[in-house]
Amino acid sequence: MSRKILVTSALPYANGAIHLGHLVEYIQTDIWVRFQKMSGNECWYVCADDTHGTPIMLRAEKEGITPEQLIERVHGEHFRDFSGFHVGFDNYYSTHSDETRDCANDIYRKLRDAGLIEVRTIEQYFDPVKQLFLPDRFIKGECPKCGAKDQYGDNCESCGAAYAPTDLIKPYSAISGAQPELRNSEHYFFKLSDPRCEAFLRQYTSKENGVLQNEAANKMQEWLGAPGDNKLTDWDISRDAPYFGFEIPDAPGKYFYVWLDAPIGYMGSFKNLCAKKGLNFDEFFKKDASTELYHFIGKDILYFHALFWPAELQHAGYRTPTKIFAHGFLTVDGAKMSKSRGTFITAQSFIDTGLNPEWLRYYFAAKLSNSMEDIDLNFEDFCARVNADLVGKYVNIASRSAGFIAKRFNGQLAPADEKLPAIKAIQEAAPRIAELYEAREFSKAVREIMALTDLANQYVDSVKPWELAKQEGKESELHAACSNALNLFRLLTVLLKPILPVVAARTEAFLNLAPLTWNDAQSLLAAGHIINNYSHLMTRVDPKLIEKLVEANKESLAPTVDAQKQAESPQRHAQHQQSEVQAESPWEPYCNIDDFMKIDLRIARIANAEHVDGADKLIRLTLDIGEEKTRNVFAGIKSAYDPASLIGRLTVMVANLAPRKMKFGLSEGMVMAASDSDGKKTPGLFLLSPDSGAQPGMRVK
Ligand code: MSP
Ligand code: ZN
Repeated sequence: MSRKILVTSALPYANGAIHLGHLVEYIQTDIWVRFQKMSGNECWYVCADDTHGTPIMLRAEKEGITPEQLIERVHGEHFRDFSGFHVGFDNYYSTHSDETRDCANDIYRKLRDAGLIEVRTIEQYFDPVKQLFLPDRFIKGECPKCGAKDQYGDNCESCGAAYAPTDLIKPYSAISGAQPELRNSEHYFFKLSDPRCEAFLRQYTSKENGVLQNEAANKMQEWLGAPGDNKLTDWDISRDAPYFGFEIPDAPGKYFYVWLDAPIGYMGSFKNLCAKKGLNFDEFFKKDASTELYHFIGKDILYFHALFWPAELQHAGYRTPTKIFAHGFLTVDGAKMSKSRGTFITAQSFIDTGLNPEWLRYYFAAKLSNSMEDIDLNFEDFCARVNADLVGKYVNIASRSAGFIAKRFNGQLAPADEKLPAIKAIQEAAPRIAELYEAREFSKAVREIMALTDLANQYVDSVKPWELAKQEGKESELHAACSNALNLFRLLTVLLKPILPVVAARTEAFLNLAPLTWNDAQSLLAAGHIINNYSHLMTRVDPKLIEKLVEANKESLAPTVDAQKQAESPQRHAQHQQSEVQAESPWEPYCNIDDFMKIDLRIARIANAEHVDGADKLIRLTLDIGEEKTRNVFAGIKSAYDPASLIGRLTVMVANLAPRKMKFGLSEGMVMAASDSDGKKTPGLFLLSPDSGAQPGMRVK
C-alpha cells in the first residue's frame, strides 16, 4: 500500500549564501525523497527560507534595502542554488507568508488557551543608540570568569564559561559600540517547564519511542534531566520592536521570536502547496494523522526540533513528527570550512567553476549514514571516487556497448539473458538496497551498488564486445553481449537514480524508456526494444577544477552567514535563547577607545631605505620618530616600492609593536600601508602619508 509522506529540510537563513555544508542536508533529504517517490509512495518535500530576526533586519539596513527586498533577492538565490544541485522541492516557500502567520497565530492561541503561555517582565540590555533590545550575540564585553576581552553575551570563547549577558564586564553593543542600558520589558514565554510538557517530552524523546536516533535520544535525556529532576526551562518566544517578524496577535509591539515561527514555516510551506495541488492539509497535520512526517536537520538545531517543536504541536492539538533525522557537520579536508583556506565553498561557485553537481551528490551519498557523525569532503578522495566509480565503472558499461547496437543492429536489442549471474545478483540485491535507502544508510547502498557494478564489468570484460565486433560470424554473440550489457546498465541506473537524477534522465532518453521506478529493477528490456543514440553521460573530474574552486572561494568578501554557529545548548537556552546567528561581516568587530589607544601610532620620517640581501619581499627602513635612536623596521613592500624613492618621505608607524627577531635582524615596529584583501592585485600596496606639516614623532590618534 502506498504511504503518504511529508518531508522537510531545515529552512536556511535568508541572509547568507548556500554552501557545501548546507548541501549535505538538502542532498541527503533529496535522495531519500526521490527514493520514496520512485518506490510509488506519495511523498511531498517542502522547504522555505527562514526570513525573520534581528540579523536579517540589520543586514538589510546595512545594504540600504528593506528586509522584504533582501529576503526576496535571497529567495531567488537560494532557489537557484538548490535547483542547480537538483534538489527537487515540491515547494520552496518563505516564512514571511500569510500561511505561516496564520499557523503561528493559531498555534500561539491554542497554547495560550491551554495555559501554556505566560507573560513575565525581564531585564534586558538595550542599545540606546540603535534603540533596540540586543540579542546575546550582539552584546560583547569582558568575560566575567577569565577577563578575556570582546566575548559574546552568552559564552566565552576563551575559557568556555557560559553566563548571562548581564554578567559581562564593560558590556558594549556590537552594533553601535554604545554602552547598553538595562531595561525592563514584558516577554511572552512558552511554559516548557510545565509538567504536561515534561511528561510528553520524556515519552516522546525516549529511545523506545524511536522518533530520534539513539545518540539524539541520549542527548535529550541529558537536557530533560533525570526523572524527578525537571531541567526544562520556559522558552522566551517574544521580541520587542523593532523586529522583522510577525506581531503577536494580542500583544502590539511584541513579535514572535524567529525560532517560534521557523518550524511553523514547514506548515506554512505545506499549506501553500496544498492550495496549489488540491491536497488536504489536515490529513498531514491533524492529531493522530496516519500520514508520516519527517524532519531532516543538522545536529546543531536538534534542541528546537526535538523539544520545543513537538511540545508546541502536541499542546496545540496537532500531530507530532514521525521521526527527526539529524546529520553531522561537513568538514573539508579534515578541518572546519574556512574562508581563508578557500574551503568555505558556496554552491554557486561550485557550479560556476564547471564542476558537475552530480559528482557532489554521489560523493556525499558515498559518505552519508544514518548517524550524527560529521562527514569529511576530501578533495583527493572526491576526484578518485567519482572518476573510478562513476566514470570508470558505471558509465563505462554503457559507453562500451551502446555504439554497437546503434551501428550494427539498427538500435534494436536482442533478448537479455535473465539467468546471467550479474543480472540475477542485481535483482536479488534491489530489495536490500531499498532497505538501505529507507534507513538513510546511503554509504552502504553505494558500496553494494558498486560491487554489483564490478560484477557487470566483469561480464563485459569476459565477453569483450570490442573483439567480437572485429570477428566474422560473431554477430549474434555481439548482439547478445551488448544487449545484456545495456540491460545491466539499466538495472544499475534504477539503483542509482535517487542519487543521480540527471544521468538517470539521460539514460532514460537514450535507452528510450519511461521514467524508471524502483520496480523496474525486477524487469528486463524486451527483445526488439529500440534505443536512441548514446551521448556521453558523465566526464571525469579534472583536479585543476578543484584548484580553481578553492581559489575562487579564498577570502571571499561575499556576505554569508557563519553556518558553524554555536550549538544550541541547554545553558544557552536557559539564558533567554537570544542566540541568533551572527551576520558575518567583512569588517572587524567593534573595539572600544581604550583598545584603540593601546596602539601607539607615530609619524615617521624614512631616513634610509635599502634592499635586504636574500629577501624577496622586504625593504629595510631606518625610521626617525623624533627619538635619539632611529628604528630599524623590515617592511614587506618591495613589490610596490623602489627603496630610493622612499628616502626622505613621511609615513605612519606602529611604535609600540613588540620588537621581533627576524632572519635579517631585529624589526622594531611596523609601517602602515593599505592593500586590497589579498595584497596581490596590482598595484597592491599604498604606504600612508600625513598631510604636510606633520613632524616625526607626532602621535596619530
Ligand atoms: N534557519 C535555521 C533552521 C530553521 S528550521 C525550522 C538554520 N539555518 S542555517 O542556514 O544555519 O542551516 C540550515 C541547515 O543546514 C541546518 O540544518 C544546519 O544544520 C545545516 N548546515 C549548515 N551548515 C552545515 C554544515 N557545515 N554541515 C552540515 N550541515 C550544515 O539553522
Ligand atoms: Zn572567559
